[in-house]
Amino acid sequence: MATPRRYALVGTGSRAEMFVRSLCLDHRETAALVALCDTNPLRLRTQQRLAAGLGVPEPAGYAAADFTEMLAKERVDTVVVTTVDSTHEAYIVAALRAGCDVVTEKPMTTDAESCARILAAQQETGRSVRVTFNYRFNPVHEQVKRLLDEGAVGEIGSVHFEWLLDVRHGADYFRRWHRDKASSGGLLVHKSGHHFDLVNWWLSARPEEVYAQGRLFFYGENGVRHGFGRDYDRAHGSPAAADDPFALHLAENPRLKELYLDAEPADGYQRDRNVFAPGISIEDDLAVLVRYDTGATMSYHLTAYAPWEGYRLMVNGSRGRLELEVVESDHVDPIAARTVKGSALHGAEEPAEQGWTTLKIRNFWQPPEDVPVEKRSREGHGGADVRMTAILFGGRQDPLNRAATERDGALALLTGLAANRSLATGRPVATADLLSIR
Ligand SMILES: NC(=O)c1ccc[n+]([C@@H]2O[C@H](COP(=O)([O-])OP(=O)(O)OC[C@H]3O[C@@H](n4cnc5c(N)ncnc54)[C@H](O)[C@@H]3O)[C@@H](O)[C@H]2O)c1
Repeated sequence: MATPRRYALVGTGSRAEMFVRSLCLDHRETAALVALCDTNPLRLRTQQRLAAGLGVPEPAGYAAADFTEMLAKERVDTVVVTTVDSTHEAYIVAALRAGCDVVTEKPMTTDAESCARILAAQQETGRSVRVTFNYRFNPVHEQVKRLLDEGAVGEIGSVHFEWLLDVRHGADYFRRWHRDKASSGGLLVHKSGHHFDLVNWWLSARPEEVYAQGRLFFYGENGVRHGFGRDYDRAHGSPAAADDPFALHLAENPRLKELYLDAEPADGYQRDRNVFAPGISIEDDLAVLVRYDTGATMSYHLTAYAPWEGYRLMVNGSRGRLELEVVESDHVDPIAARTVKGSALHGAEEPAEQGWTTLKIRNFWQPPEDVPVEKRSREGHGGADVRMTAILFGGRQDPLNRAATERDGALALLTGLAANRSLATGRPVATADLLSIR
């Protein structure tokens, strides 16, 4: 049997858990998680305990300042980066320069300058970078890719894509570091990057020109105008938050309590800020227009305060039209909203979602054809995480070539960064003015 690859993970928050479980449980034959690193020693300790509880040797713990030392001392082959978005680049570049491969969470980074530094470091070192665009691994998204590649609607003229985040999931971006544009790049980078990557992949296209309009319409100080704002800064310990359907109650969920509330003394990171408190620098309602190098265009909308969660995709082609509707959850239960989606304790099942998926091909002169779709899995991100890690860590073959590279990471980022610049200037932005990617 081949010697397992040696992995280290930096950023031991909630997303890290999926990787810890995947490496230590699903892929323990091919992977060894040898070290964990974070700025917060308490959260780091929680993930060390999680790994040890899965029956593998406990990974060593390192402070963020000792990251490079960790790579040498633990003879690390691959680094997994799951820190706050704006800090990804420092770890990606340091890992590449130390001779490691990198698996990084999306977005690859949050600005054009750091993106250029990652591309240069990858070129110079020749090491591999994989960006975990797990949406590519959702079976229905693979079906869309196959249908479009097979020419089911002919040459693609345009795409219309609307994404809705409900008042449970959408609100969560306004409670912590995501609410700060300098940390997350805003939702166009942090969230829509998934969607922009899907469209780049589906169309085999690069974005060339982008125009955007958007604002903070619902959250922040707008809450008072809409009759929602309550007067508190963070939910924990605030009587005004007790019956606020927008409040996150950390103490009621053992996993959230351990990861965030109990770890606060080390760094003061508050996970449960009032979504209607001042200080938010990101938008919650965004419209984007994109022209691709193939000549196709996309009109895109992201709404982060919707009553239901899901998306609608329409692809117009020279032979007809593809229509996808995915309803992940058709309403928000105010009781479920007291905690966050996906926060069932260490791998326990989430409550059933009330959703459905329809995929149709409408060719000219013919009745619509309903394409049968796989039932959505209740595992992480509709089963996409398991399918992605099987390829990243398990060496499973990937005929659809879905594992995204640094170039894919940069191209997804480019639409969001150009859209952000367009928001700031009020003008269309040529992506080549931000970053030249061949
Ligand atoms: N692909 C997906 O579906 C998906 C889902 C959730 C999160 N994510 C991504 O995963 C990453 C982590 O998100 P999360 O929800 O776990 O956030 P989190 O806040 O729960 O965890 C972030 C961790 O990074 C640590 N950290 C912050 N600054 C650091 C630094 N300079 N050096 C080292 N550690 C640092 C924090 O202490 C914390 O433990 C983000 O990039 C996010 O975009 C991706």
